[in-house]
Amino acid sequence: MSSTNSGGRAILSLGRVYCDMVFNGLDSMPELGRELFARDFTLTPGGGALITAAHAAALGRPAALLARFGTDAISNALKPQMLDLGIDLQFLELHASAGPQLTVVMVQDEERAFLSRRAGHAAPASFETALDWSDAAHLHIAEYATLHEMPGAVQAAKRRGLTVSLDPSWDADLIKDPLFFERAAGVDVFLPNLEEARALTHCEDPEQALRTLAKHFPVVVLKCGGDGGMLAAGGKIIAQTSPVVEVVDTTGAGDAFNAGFLHVWLQGADMDKCLASAIEAGMRSVQAAGGTGSLPKVHDVA
Ligand SMILES: Nc1ncnc2c1ncn2[C@@H]1O[C@H](COP(=O)(O)OP(=O)(O)OP(=O)(O)O)[C@@H](O)[C@H]1O
Ligand SMILES: [Mg+2]
Repeated sequence: MSSTNSGGRAILSLGRVYCDMVFNGLDSMPELGRELFARDFTLTPGGGALITAAHAAALGRPAALLARFGTDAISNALKPQMLDLGIDLQFLELHASAGPQLTVVMVQDEERAFLSRRAGHAAPASFETALDWSDAAHLHIAEYATLHEMPGAVQAAKRRGLTVSLDPSWDADLIKDPLFFERAAGVDVFLPNLEEARALTHCEDPEQALRTLAKHFPVVVLKCGGDGGMLAAGGKIIAQTSPVVEVVDTTGAGDAFNAGFLHVWLQGADMDKCLASAIEAGMRSVQAAGGTGSLPKVHDVA
């Protein structure tokens, strides 16, 4: 299933890159007409494509970010951190209209509120060149919203012999798209969380939802938060639990999970091992702040 014609090893990770502005330590959430002060602040690169690429790179899997990226001061400020994560940036299309793309994260105890701004369109001009890259083995699409903007993306990758994965990544409008499965046709590995799986199948029961999704994709991997994950492939269903750990921040855990799965799946490993690797990556991620906070930095490693 994971064989490709390309002979390459790398993952191309397609999706929007965000500048995550995380305000920590709030005593309440903002109210109209009131000013609120945060005790801490961090600025980190985010978005599913980047987080999955970073976790894949940390596992030793070459990973290139396939995205548009702004040329403004805020976007520029993130570049050193992106390089520090070991992500290949050769296919990053720099364009003034692509930034700044922001997510303000407001954290109060276990609750978080998000405010995001998308900038420009999602389709990088480097898309076809990236697919032709001799090192490429796999295209990971980090959110259905990006596939929705690039309807031919799956077929273009398949024509080059690449395998393809898709994380729907919750979008309140697009999760109800009646053409969802039609647009996602050809995806080899589908990676929803439980909420997304339920919305797509109208099945409450996780196993039932998984079986329904398995009619559309050869491999479906379901993220079940602190409960671990489930997988359907080749007519079989596997479930594995996650070890109990102290959770610091669940941001990006699903994207880390994707990287853990894909890295081992691309090695041709059996499904038990793939799911175990996914859960381990997700579990590591929740033990540090931010989507990439658990990862070593290239400079530290050096
Ligand atoms: N509380 C937890 N304890 C241990 N592991 C966890 C916990 N929450 C998440 N994980 C790990 O992370 C994986 C993915 O988590 P989750 O189901 O929250 O994905 P998601 O909702 O897609 O996340 P994201 O916010 O990144 O979109 C889980 O399968 C598990 O391995
Ligand atoms: Mg997710």
